[in-house]
Amino acid sequence: MDKRTFIKNAGLLSIGGAFGLGSLPELMNSVSAVPSSFLAKDEDFWAKIRGGYLLKPDYINLENGYYCFLPQETLENFIRHVREVNYQGSYYMRTVQVENKKKAAARLAEIGGCSADEIIITRNTTESLDMIIGGLHWKQEDEAIMAEQDYGAMLEMFKLTAKRYGIVNKVVSVPNLPQNDDEIVNLYAGAITEKTKLIMVCHMINITGQILPVRKICDIAHSRGVQVMVDGAHTFGHFKFSIPDLNCDYYGSSLHKWLSVPLGAGILYVKKENIGKVWPLLASGDIREDDIARLNHIGTHPAHTDLAIFNAIDYYNMIGAERKEARLRYLQNYWTDKVRNLPHIILNTPADPARSCGIANVGIKEMKPKDLADVLYKKYRIYTVPIDGANVHGCRITPNVYTSTDDLDILVKALTELG
Ligand SMILES: Cc1ncc(COP(=O)(O)O)c(C=O)c1O
Repeated sequence: MDKRTFIKNAGLLSIGGAFGLGSLPELMNSVSAVPSSFLAKDEDFWAKIRGGYLLKPDYINLENGYYCFLPQETLENFIRHVREVNYQGSYYMRTVQVENKKKAAARLAEIGGCSADEIIITRNTTESLDMIIGGLHWKQEDEAIMAEQDYGAMLEMFKLTAKRYGIVNKVVSVPNLPQNDDEIVNLYAGAITEKTKLIMVCHMINITGQILPVRKICDIAHSRGVQVMVDGAHTFGHFKFSIPDLNCDYYGSSLHKWLSVPLGAGILYVKKENIGKVWPLLASGDIREDDIARLNHIGTHPAHTDLAIFNAIDYYNMIGAERKEARLRYLQNYWTDKVRNLPHIILNTPADPARSCGIANVGIKEMKPKDLADVLYKKYRIYTVPIDGANVHGCRITPNVYTSTDDLDILVKALTELG
């Protein structure tokens, strides 16, 4: 029986599309032998995945970069956890809350390929990375290196740290379309001096989707005695990688982005040997210097979100990291290939598959990004976000697994007509 017949026979092609809870495993079983690269192009299959989302009919959402809202399956489980924690009240909080959070962190460590005692669940990337920036033992005139394309919250935290400790922030600018890794690595390496203590580098630049050669930057930084903190807000659950393979010292990500965990969950990875080098954000009591729990005290927080992490991971694993990455990459290439060479188009994202995945940024010559976003929304019912700064001028286009090529055809039509 071929894959399509199986799906039909299994009754998954119901009109209305949404598969019931529990049928996702059957759908995935039916494609278990299909290579990811092939499945990435199978609109029938991805329409079933789309059926598991409740999509607003008002617009095509190509702004998943802020928040990858939940598929119905994870949402229903999340609501169940809210009810359960509310039902058990303090009993839940006093008995299994901490243990469950640890277990969720251990599941996340599996995705990140790191040890469970090097990862904690935070509220978001901002908390994770700002804890490191604010928590290192800075001396006056120590230097930190970052890029103008980095995220505002972290750049602001470095400014605040400069005010507090008198550190010097050196800001480089990453080209949108680099020729090779050396161009990027040399940019960071060239800014290192004897006073440099920390480099912050994005794994994926949020405004363009460019993936940076983090491993090479870490290696050169370490050879000069400099630590590296990686902003992975846009990578965890987006494409496959192992944090230890990057050889970084600190890594932060937001789980409400590509892993589709409910709002307000993130991770912080700290290489074992660095755990004692960071002041906790909030005092955590008498915890051993090498125990990452000392960085994890935030007081009472929405414990049901920790529980939904299990469901989001199950959903992610069920689709499969490779399949998801292949689909996101396919979707990005699907539209960028069609417009990249149009004379009025400016693509701010490299075509090289090693330097991009699902996100790309597009501008139109002589059109302000805000005007482009406005016309995309008003005329074509496409929701995006305009970016106009740090040498990037265009709209960020962020599909998700539920995005169809029909959606992207409308984007391509719009970009073609707007010339
Ligand atoms: C590169 C990057 N870093 C950090 C953040 C902050 O994420 P959060 O608001 O979840 O802390 C974002 C958010 O979009 C981002 O794109």
